[in-house]
Amino acid sequence: MIILVGYATVEGQTRKVVEAVATAIEAAGDRALLFDVSSGGEYAVAHPEAAILCAPVHAARYPAAFTAFAKQEAAWLNTVPTALISLSLLIRSEFEEEREEAAHYPDTLLETSGWKPGMIHHAAGALRYTEYDFFKRWIIRRMAEHENAPTDVSRDHEFTDWKALSAFVAEFLASAKA
Ligand SMILES: Cc1cc2nc3c(=O)[nH]c(=O)nc-3n(C[C@H](O)[C@H](O)[C@H](O)COP(=O)(O)O)c2cc1C
Repeated sequence: MIILVGYATVEGQTRKVVEAVATAIEAAGDRALLFDVSSGGEYAVAHPEAAILCAPVHAARYPAAFTAFAKQEAAWLNTVPTALISLSLLIRSEFEEEREEAAHYPDTLLETSGWKPGMIHHAAGALRYTEYDFFKRWIIRRMAEHENAPTDVSRDHEFTDWKALSAFVAEFLASAKA
C-alpha cells in the first residue's frame, strides 16, 4: 500500500514524528511517501491509497499551509482511509479541561477543510527551549510553569510517546487494509 504521510512543522518535532510513522509503515511492508505540505511542491505519486496527515498546534491552531492542504485535498482524502496526528502540549496537561481543549484542536481544521479523517491520534510534542529565541523561550517557560511542565531552559524536553504512536500506525494499517 502506498501511504501519503503529509506534514507541517514549525520547530521540527512533527518531522521527527512523521519519520517514525514512515519507518513503521515501511517496516510493515508498505510504502510511505513523506511530503512537507508547506514546501509548495507537489507530491510525486498521483494516487496514494491512504494518507496520514500530521501537524503541530501553535497558539491553538495548525499551520495555515496545513489547513490549506487539507482543504485543497479534502475531496480526494475523503475517498481513501485517512488519519490525523495532532501534536500539542496541552494533551499531556495534568488538568482535565486542558486535555479536553487539546482533544478539540482538530474541530476547526476539520470544519474549515471538509476533510473527515477516519482516525485521530493525539501525540504530545516537545519543548525545544534551546532553539527558541528570547521572547518565545520566555512565553513558553511561563506556559510551562502554569502547566507544571519542565522549566529548565538549558535543555530540550520531549514528551512524545513513541510506543503509542507506532501502535496507532499499526491500527491504522490494519483498518486501511480491512
Ligand atoms: C509559540 C508556541 C505556541 C504553542 N502553542 C500551543 C498551544 O496553543 N497549545 C498546545 O497544546 N501546544 C502549543 N505549543 C506546543 C507545540 O504544539 C509543541 O511544542 C510541538 O512539539 C511543536 O511541534 P513542531 O516542533 O513540529 O512545530 C506551542 C509551542 C510554541 C513554541
